Amino acid sequence: MVMEPQNIYSLCPATILRVLPQIQDHRLFQLQLDDEETRQQFKHSPGQFIEVSIFGAGEAPISITSPPTRNATIEICVRRSGKLTQALFQLGKGSRLHIRGPYGRGFPVELFKGKKLLLVAGGLGLAPLRSLLLYALDKRDEFDDLTLMYGTSSPDTVLFKYELLGLMDRSDLQYLYSVDRDDEGIWKQYVGVVTGLFDRASLSAQDTYAVLCGPPVMYRFVVERLLTLGFPRQHIYVSLERMMKCGVGKCGHCAIGDKYCCTDGPVFSLDELEHIPEAL
Ligand SMILES: Cc1cc2nc3c(=O)[nH]c(=O)nc-3n(C[C@H](O)[C@H](O)[C@H](O)COP(=O)(O)OP(=O)(O)OC[C@H]3O[C@@H](n4cnc5c(N)ncnc54)[C@H](O)[C@@H]3O)c2cc1C
Ligand code: FES
Repeated sequence: MVMEPQNIYSLCPATILRVLPQIQDHRLFQLQLDDEETRQQFKHSPGQFIEVSIFGAGEAPISITSPPTRNATIEICVRRSGKLTQALFQLGKGSRLHIRGPYGRGFPVELFKGKKLLLVAGGLGLAPLRSLLLYALDKRDEFDDLTLMYGTSSPDTVLFKYELLGLMDRSDLQYLYSVDRDDEGIWKQYVGVVTGLFDRASLSAQDTYAVLCGPPVMYRFVVERLLTLGFPRQHIYVSLERMMKCGVGKCGHCAIGDKYCCTDGPVFSLDELEHIPEAL
């Protein structure tokens, strides 16, 4: 449920509880809303985002990477890229910032229940998919087969490394990881682009929903592969990233054809994008 302040741009104060360095220029921030009532009301679904705001530095949309099943805190995984994220990286435990949201249309988790699920993540695209993955693992008996494919550029760019290592013991998750290159020869799994993992996975195209998030180039190749394997277009979901300002469907900055990424998305089925070829 979206918090409903009188002013849609009203900000909610939050405190940083923890900062966990991930890889270079990527950190996990664990936030807690300051107001108890607002905290109780804050409900999100995997795939949704918040606008993070720091006075003097502006705002930026950031995916919620924690699952709704663990909503005492809100986790975000951030890459230092520009003004807002630079300012965020100056903050530590106990610092305060502001957020608004959650916004956007997340993954259709109710539709996924009882179904097989394939999650394909590239780089920081793991952030929104981690929310869905942990949700499905927390409610494991509500889903059929679960498969995670995660590709990064090199072994030192794997996000949530220890958490992912912990998943290796699970027999109820098929996990496949790839790195594009392994100059030091230390990677024990697949070396090559993420689409190479399809040759190693056991998947049944007709009754599996595929969910993708990663760099734009990944979508084209992964979607092509999924369609070749026989995945129906309406079973393929992508989470898209566009420049955003308001986050609530007012400014038009995030338009993709006749859709707004912030309110119609960021999650779309391939079906919905069929008439917007520039979307992918
Ligand atoms: C739905 C959604 C979810 C997202 N989730 C995440 C997430 O989970 N984690 C995350 O880290 N990011 C996420 N992003 C991306 C994030 O919102 C953007 O990277 C955002 O721009 C960061 O804000 P900033 O102020 O730090 O960077 P900006 O100042 O906006 O800069 C962003 C990029 O643009 C470049 N740039 C800025 N100004 C100029 C200029 N004048 N000329 C040329 N280049 C310029 C910067 O070098 C940088 O690469 C998400 C975006 C969307 C839409
Ligand atoms: S960001 Fe303003 S309409 Fe989407």
